[in-house]
Amino acid sequence: MKKFIITIDGPAASGKEKIAKYISKKWKLNHLDSGILYRRLALIFLIENIDFKNIEKIKNKLKEIHQISFRNSKKIRTQVISKLSSKIAVHDCVRSFVNKLQYNFVNKNKKTRGFVIDGRDIGSVVFKKANLKLYIEVNPEIRAKRRYKQLIDSGEKSIYPKILKDIKLRDKQDKLRKHSPLVIPKGAHVINNNSTFKNTVRQINMLLESL
Ligand code: CDP
Repeated sequence: MKKFIITIDGPAASGKEKIAKYISKKWKLNHLDSGILYRRLALIFLIENIDFKNIEKIKNKLKEIHQISFRNSKKIRTQVISKLSSKIAVHDCVRSFVNKLQYNFVNKNKKTRGFVIDGRDIGSVVFKKANLKLYIEVNPEIRAKRRYKQLIDSGEKSIYPKILKDIKLRDKQDKLRKHSPLVIPKGAHVINNNSTFKNTVRQINMLLESL
């Protein structure tokens, strides 16, 4: 049976995760946050001291990894892991590895009604034939303010200007990379998430109701 899929792409800290969680609860869909997989790999490379530029070492390590946790955790939400995940995400071998995990996840979960998947390349590369594609847009300053609050609330020390700088750097890396750069996917609905969450989900629910 063909799976019902909603993709959500957008830049760092644009609120994709919160939106995806909301949709998955309201519309009874499984949620997959592809960023978690890049963050999990970044944590492994950090712990094992694998240089993010050393493709040979990265390839060898990927051959050894047979399972990866899809669970979120405080230790993969630090600023260090945010930056490193974006650096390793430029490599084709890393992206193919993560994409395989995503396809397996979707194919294995036979009982679910469908999936909402968020990331950078989900509607443009990974699930091009999704039933609904969303692209979330928010000003960098608003994103930085929201991420700053998240980090402070989770107990991590953080400085607003540094968060803004890191977010802009990640945007640049994600948009300019050769493999699967962040783009507005063909056929995607652009959702402005600058104002309230209520306003954002109202626009999305209208789209879903009209499907
Ligand atoms: O939550 P936030 O928007 O800060 O980031 P994330 O979605 O957890 O993703 C972390 C990093 O992984 C991003 O900066 C991207 O470089 C990379 N990523 C990617 O390249 N492709 C995806 N589908 C998801 C994440």
